[in-house]
Amino acid sequence: MSYSQQTRRNRALSSVSTLLLSFLLCISKPSNAQSSSPVFACDVAGNPSLAGFGFCNTGLKAEARVTDLIGRLTLEEKIGFLVSNASGVSRLGIPYYNWWSEALHGVSSVGRGSDFSGLVRGATSFPQVILTAASFNISLFQAIGKVVSTEARAMHNVGQAGLTFWSPNVNIFRDPRWGRGQETPGEDPTLTSKYAVAYVKGLQETDGGDPNRLKVAACCKHYTAYDLDEWKDVSRFTFNAVVNQQDMYDTFQPPFKSCVVDGNVASVMCSYNKVNGKPTCADPDLLSGVIRGQWKLNGYIVSDCDSVEFMYTRQHYTNTPEEAVAKSMLAGLDLNCDHYAGQHAMEAVKTGLVNESAIDNALSNNFATLMRLGFFDGDPKNQPYGNLGPKDVCTAENQELAREAARQGIVLLKNSPGSLPFSPSAIKTLAVIGPNAHDVNQTMIGNYHGEPCKYTTPLQGLTQTVSATYSPGCSKVACTEADINSATALAASADAVVLVMGLDQTIEREDLDRVNLNLPGKQQELVTEVARAAKGPVVLVIMSGGGFDITFAKNDEKITSIMWVGYPGEAGGLAIADVIFGRHNPSGRLPMTWYPQTYVEKVPMSNMNMRPDEANGYPGRTHRFYAGETVYAFGDGISYSKFSHRLVKATRHLSLRLDESHVCQSSECQSLDAVGPHCESVVEVHVEVSNVGDREGSHTVLMFTSPPAVHRSPIKNLVGFEKVGLGKSEEVTVRFKVDVCKDLSVVDETGKMKVALGEHVLHVGSLKHSLTISI
Ligand SMILES: *[C@@H]1O[C@H](CO)[C@@H](O)[C@H](O)[C@H]1NC(C)=O
Ligand SMILES: *[C@@H]1O[C@H](CO)[C@@H](O)[C@H](O)[C@H]1NC(C)=O
Ligand SMILES: *[C@@H]1O[C@H](CO)[C@@H](O)[C@H](O)[C@H]1NC(C)=O
Ligand SMILES: *[C@@H]1O[C@H](CO)[C@@H](O)[C@H](O)[C@H]1NC(C)=O
Repeated sequence: MSYSQQTRRNRALSSVSTLLLSFLLCISKPSNAQSSSPVFACDVAGNPSLAGFGFCNTGLKAEARVTDLIGRLTLEEKIGFLVSNASGVSRLGIPYYNWWSEALHGVSSVGRGSDFSGLVRGATSFPQVILTAASFNISLFQAIGKVVSTEARAMHNVGQAGLTFWSPNVNIFRDPRWGRGQETPGEDPTLTSKYAVAYVKGLQETDGGDPNRLKVAACCKHYTAYDLDEWKDVSRFTFNAVVNQQDMYDTFQPPFKSCVVDGNVASVMCSYNKVNGKPTCADPDLLSGVIRGQWKLNGYIVSDCDSVEFMYTRQHYTNTPEEAVAKSMLAGLDLNCDHYAGQHAMEAVKTGLVNESAIDNALSNNFATLMRLGFFDGDPKNQPYGNLGPKDVCTAENQELAREAARQGIVLLKNSPGSLPFSPSAIKTLAVIGPNAHDVNQTMIGNYHGEPCKYTTPLQGLTQTVSATYSPGCSKVACTEADINSATALAASADAVVLVMGLDQTIEREDLDRVNLNLPGKQQELVTEVARAAKGPVVLVIMSGGGFDITFAKNDEKITSIMWVGYPGEAGGLAIADVIFGRHNPSGRLPMTWYPQTYVEKVPMSNMNMRPDEANGYPGRTHRFYAGETVYAFGDGISYSKFSHRLVKATRHLSLRLDESHVCQSSECQSLDAVGPHCESVVEVHVEVSNVGDREGSHTVLMFTSPPAVHRSPIKNLVGFEKVGLGKSEEVTVRFKVDVCKDLSVVDETGKMKVALGEHVLHVGSLKHSLTISI
C-alpha cells in the first residue's frame, strides 16, 4: 500500500530530480562519468531500446535476469565488472558503478562511492563502534543501522552514495594495541556476533521485509583472523597469522558465521593477512568452502583494497599478477577492490589460469546483489525509498539517536561518594582541562567517518549547563609538552574539574598500532597535578578506542570519577554532559579488557594464541582466557543506581537424550558433538533484576558460563545479555533460553563444537548457579 503512494509521489518529482541527478553527477564525478554513460541502469523510459533486455525486465526472476545480462557481455566487458570501480557498459545502458562505500557509524566519505560534495553536506555521525557496543543494547545497534541506511538511500537518490557499504568491521579486538580496535564491537565473540547481526539487519532489511530486496548491502569484514595493522616491524599486508583450529572456530570465525547465517549479510570481505601461510583471499577452503559452502552466503565476496595485488607484489605468494588474480577467483573471490583483476584477468584467461566460467560465476554473485538493490530496476526515484532525499539526512531525530547512542555507551569506571552526578546548584564553576576537551571535532568521530551534521565538543556540551574555564593542558594528545601551571591554576579556582584526555588517530588508527598502554607523553603528570591542585571533585574522561593502564588514576583518591567515552561521535559533548550532570544514568559496560602495561611487555602482538600457555608464561587473551590482573575488566561499568539479581528459575540437572547407538552410551565421554537429537534441549534461566538504588536507569544482565575443564575450555563464555530499563524500586524478570548446543558448547582442539558433560557454572554478577549436564 505504501509502495503505490510512494510511486505516485515520485513520478511527479522524477523528471525534475533526474535532471538534478545528472547535473550533480556531472559536477561531482567528472572523471568517472563518461559523457555517454547513463545515469542509472535500465532507463527504459529514457531509452526504449532497453525495454527488450531481459535483465531490465522486473517481471522476470532475478536469476534469469542475471543470466540474461551475463550472456550479453563480451569477455572484456565482464572483466570490467570484477573490480570495485566497475566500468559499466554504455551500449547496454549500464552506468559506471563504484562498489566501494563505507558506513561504519554513519555514511562515510572513505571509499569512492560516496561523497559530501553535493546537496547533502553532512550525515549523522554516530559514536565509533566500540562505544556503541558498550551499550550492550541490541535494539540500539539495529536502530543505528536503520538510520544509516535511510541516510544512505537518501544520498544515493541524489547521486552522492552507492548502494554497497563495506561495513561493519567484525574482527575480534584481540590485542589492546590494535589501531582499528575502535572500529569493532570489542573482544567478545558473542557480543560481536550480536552487534554484527543487528547492524547488518538495520542496514539491509527493507520495511516490507522482503528477503529478495536489500535497502543497502552490508559487508562483514575482514575475513579472517585480522586484527593487527602495523606493530613494530610487522605489517598487516604481509603478516602470517598462525591460528590453530580451536581459536579459529572459537574466536575468529563466529562473528562472520553469525553475519552470514543469522544476519544474511550480502557480502564478506577477505583480509590482507595470510592465515597459516595462505592469503585469505586466495584460500578456497576459507572462501568457497566455508563462506559459500557451509554458511551459504547469498551475495558476493570482495577483497580488501589491493589485497590481490599484494599477494604478488608484497607477499610473493604468486609468481605473476595473473596467477594472483586467477588463484583468488578460483578460491571464490567475486570482486576485487581496486584494479588488479581489471588489468590481469584477460591475460589469466588467455594463458588458461582461469576460465571464463569462473568469471561468469563471480559476476553472477555481483549482479545478483545489485538486482536485490534495485540497481537494474530503472530510476531509483521510482523505487522503494525513492522519495528519500536531503531532507531525510541529519534530521533532528537522527541526531538525537547519535546523542542517545553515546549516552548509552559511556562507561563509568570509578565514582567515589559525593562525586558524580554533579548538581548544577552545587557546582557553579567548572575547570575543563585536557587536549580532548575542545577543538576535537575530528577526534570525536574516530575513523571511517563522513561529514557530520554538526559537532558538539565536551567543553561546548558542559558549558550549556554551567560556566567553565578551559585549558587544553597540552596542545596535542601526544602531550610531549604540558602547560601544567595554567591547568592547575584553573583547577584550584573551580568547584569541580573535568579532564578530557586519551587518544586520537595520531596514536591509534588504521596502519598504526600502539606499543604501550600508558596515557601518552605528559598526560599522566598533567592529570595527577591537576587533581592535586583541585579543591572539588575531579572527573577523568578518557576518549579512546583502546584501553589504558590507568592504575595511577584508579588509586588516586583525588580523582573521584573515571569515565570512558570511546570516540563519541558528533554529539559526544552533549552526551558527556548528560552523564556528568545526571540527566542520563550511565549504563555502558566495557566491551574489552583493560590490561596493565606489563601485559604488552610480555605478549607479542603477533602471537595469535588465545589460550594461555603455562610452559612459557603466555597469559592468554581476553576475558575468556586471561586470568591475570586487569586494570578494568570486560563488562565493568557502574551506574548512579544499584541493581541486584536473584535467580528465580534455573535448571540444575540436564540429562541429554542420545541415540541407542551413540558411542557415548557404551564408553566414557567428556563431551558430545553439538549436533543430534540432544541439541533440542533448552535450559531456562530466569533472573529477577531489581533497581535498589534511588534513581531510574538501565542495566545489562550479562550471563556467563564457566564450562567444565575439557578441551582447554575458556574460563568463561558470555552466553547472552539483556539490557533492561528500571525505575526506582522496580524489578523485572529476564528470561534466558539457553540452547545447550549453541550456547553451552565449547570448541575442541580440531575446531568442532562440543557439549561438555559435567558441571557448568552460570553466573550473573555475583550470582552463581551450577548446572550439571549428563547423559
Ligand atoms: C578504475 O581504477 C583504475 C585504477 O585507478 C583505472 O585504471 C581505471 O580506469 C578505473 N576504471 C574506471 C571505469 O574508472
Ligand atoms: C577450464 O575448463 C576446462 C574445460 O572444461 C578444464 O579442463 C580446465 O581444468 C579449466 N581450467 C581451470 C583453471 O579451471
Ligand atoms: C567544529 O565544529 C563546530 C560545529 O560544527 C564548528 O563551529 C567549528 O568551527 C569546528 N571546529 C573546527 C576546528 O573545525
Ligand atoms: C535500547 O536502545 C533503544 C534505542 O535507543 C532505547 O529505546 C531503549 O530504551 C534502550 N534500552 C535500554 C534498556 O536502555
